[in-house]
Amino acid sequence: MADARRQGRDAEPLPGTVLRELGRERGVFIGTAVRAAAQRDNKAYRQLVAAQFASVTPENEMKWGAVEAKRGELRLEDADRIVGAAQDAGQAVRGHALVFHSQLPGWVEGLGRAELRTATRAHIRRMMGRYRGRVAIWDVVNEPITDGGELRRSPFLDKLGPGYIAQAFRDARRADPKAKLYINEIGGEGINPKSDRLYALVRDLKARGVPIDGVGFQMHVNLAGLQPTYVENLRRFAALGVEVAITEADVGVRLPPTPAKLRKQAPIFAAIVRGCLAVQACKHLTFWGFTDGHSWISTTQPGWGAATLLDEQLRPKPAFRAVQRALRR
Ligand code: G3I
Repeated sequence: MADARRQGRDAEPLPGTVLRELGRERGVFIGTAVRAAAQRDNKAYRQLVAAQFASVTPENEMKWGAVEAKRGELRLEDADRIVGAAQDAGQAVRGHALVFHSQLPGWVEGLGRAELRTATRAHIRRMMGRYRGRVAIWDVVNEPITDGGELRRSPFLDKLGPGYIAQAFRDARRADPKAKLYINEIGGEGINPKSDRLYALVRDLKARGVPIDGVGFQMHVNLAGLQPTYVENLRRFAALGVEVAITEADVGVRLPPTPAKLRKQAPIFAAIVRGCLAVQACKHLTFWGFTDGHSWISTTQPGWGAATLLDEQLRPKPAFRAVQRALRR
């Protein structure tokens, strides 16, 4: 009951200029991952998404497992809700994620080579076709590389071979010629075996004329801080002639989140922002959620939490002000 009352309340205004405006002045779209259920049930959450951010990414609602858990039975209400709200708020949408080994429906895992090829193309066409003109950017291929720098085992690699990546981009370009097409990777923010392999992959795709427009760096980090080669890494990718973006930034904290830990978290968020601002080709910076009440770290990483800009009551943490300051300078 108390929770129901809270969910109907207006958001407390956050101090200072909204992030989307601060970003606009620096030429960067500031975005957040959103959850359809929170957007539907929690008025303050909904208001803050609309007020603070220039772009949104559905956190789970466009993944294949969410939209077609049973073959041929489509569930797109949640994705539609997020896209509709974004249009009302004048926001860009980043579609996430078309070809991804995780959150795949069970039936996809059971397909043979030819069927998987056909089903993957149909999925790309269906999603990009439905949201043509409303989803400006798509993560076409998500997390295709291991930490060791190999192509990641998945039904796509195992059954279709390494060519599945180029094929997905070609299918995507045909499905919506105007959308920006991204590859999105986790743990490749610094120069390391994973980002070296990603770099070689993107260079090769570009050299072969495969239609890839951008590389997303997720940036799930913790209080250990950023890789010192973060900016250098963004720059080497930009030099390949692609956009770069920070797509899923959060800074996990071991529970409990003491004031000292939250003070340490703030400059790490600021450094993420400054790194993107330092690179001309970095035009989008998305946080993977903006409140600790709706963050995958709190929900799925035992012993960890407090990874976002606002606390569970939607109050600003030191990180929020640090991000504002970093955007201002
Ligand atoms: O939908 C069920 C719900 O019915 C049930 O009540 C609830 C109970 O725990 O679980 C719900 O499913 C959860 C789902 O998120 C939707 O909220 C899953 O348990 C949970 O594992 C799933 O986690 C998501 C995770 O991807 C799955 O791999 C996170 O929310 C999401 O933030 C995370 O996002 C990924 C990006 O897509 C790719 N990069 C890494 C990033 C973080 O892992």
